[in-house]
Amino acid sequence: MAGQVDDLHQMDPEAFREHVRSFQFWLDAVEGYLEGTEYGHAPATPEAELDADERERLVTVLCNYCVGETAALEGAGGLIAVAPNRATKIFLSTQTVDEGRHLEVLVHRLRELGVAEPEAEIERRASPKLLEFKGRLLELVHGGDWEAALFAQNVILEAMEFAVFHRHAQEADPRTREVLEGIIKDERRHIGFGENELGRRLRQQPAARERLRGVREELDRLVLGCFEETMATVGASAAERGELSRSYLQAVERLGFA
Ligand SMILES: [Fe+2]
Ligand SMILES: [Fe+2]
Repeated sequence: MAGQVDDLHQMDPEAFREHVRSFQFWLDAVEGYLEGTEYGHAPATPEAELDADERERLVTVLCNYCVGETAALEGAGGLIAVAPNRATKIFLSTQTVDEGRHLEVLVHRLRELGVAEPEAEIERRASPKLLEFKGRLLELVHGGDWEAALFAQNVILEAMEFAVFHRHAQEADPRTREVLEGIIKDERRHIGFGENELGRRLRQQPAARERLRGVREELDRLVLGCFEETMATVGASAAERGELSRSYLQAVERLGFA
């Protein structure tokens, strides 16, 4: 392991960037936190005792996470065709696998909670604003503007998921927490890729920043609307909703896209 770390430090920046976008890097990373888990949590982690109300709220939230992860799965897969070179295409193939895994573990968590027909339940409980966000994201992905699509997918959507999952994990039952913590580790890699790739592209063509500002204005409104809708459904207070919105906006700004 020490030898491997030394090798990484000695790489030139271009070789290093290619390495962190490789399937080999992905394999080493996920092995570290997924080994021994089944559907995203340790098999021995006990199921919490939830009352009917808590279970109901958790099912609604998980159904909406499934909508978000389906958007991420379709978006990451669609971006492969738009990506400008092989290293970015390879990275996006690892991201596509991650998003498929996220969707799978969340659907499985619904089954563990006794949801017999997750597909129907997701349809029933999906937030209209989140569906609108998904539609707009996929339009951007299929529009072929690499910077705008990558920004929508790997900055806006990832920052939204990161804010929500991070906050939820802090108060979740043990199984849900483990599932979310594994997902968050993958999302960090996706955000890192978006930040690095967009940072470079914007240095090369500063005019693209203006296009991204337009995308951000449009999507921020939808993201904040999703928070309002989903948080209201699960009975969160106005203060909690405000906190979630703030942490999303801070995440996007931390990435340098104020
Ligand atoms: Fe995801
Ligand atoms: Fe992601």
